Amino acid sequence: MKRIDLLFANPEYQNLLEYIKYAERDRKFCRHDIRHFLDMSRLLYIYCLEEGLDIDKELIYAIGLLHDIGRAEQYKSGREHHLAGAECAKKLMPLCGFTNEETQRAAEAILSHRSTESGDILARLVYRADKRSRLCFDCPARDECNWPREKMNLEIDI
Ligand SMILES: [Fe+2]
Repeated sequence: MKRIDLLFANPEYQNLLEYIKYAERDRKFCRHDIRHFLDMSRLLYIYCLEEGLDIDKELIYAIGLLHDIGRAEQYKSGREHHLAGAECAKKLMPLCGFTNEETQRAAEAILSHRSTESGDILARLVYRADKRSRLCFDCPARDECNWPREKMNLEIDI
């Protein structure tokens, strides 16, 4: 089984994913589900190729699958999701065969994925892929969204 499949099948990962689904069941804004995680992973992979970064594809997808998984804890306790997500990456990735170095790289990218100010190019691409994966131009709740208009994707990004 690929490492990314092991991560997706991990019971703790599945529980967190299910909790987010439950907590967001009535949410009219963007959800943090496996579709978002895969959209974000695919964009991140494209951006890494465009930038000529030699980063393992499964590591990129692990970052995608884990970058918002901390939302579960945020909904439960209020703890910010990037902190909980980085911690989750450190716990689950080694169980799925990722090296300590890969795990550390993913945790750092997840920790700084909410800011454009990171000095690390991977973290900046994670931020961009995360934002660009949202289809604001097609969103019926756009006018009520708290994203500033300049951050919204109001055109098709190519
Ligand atoms: Fe996200």
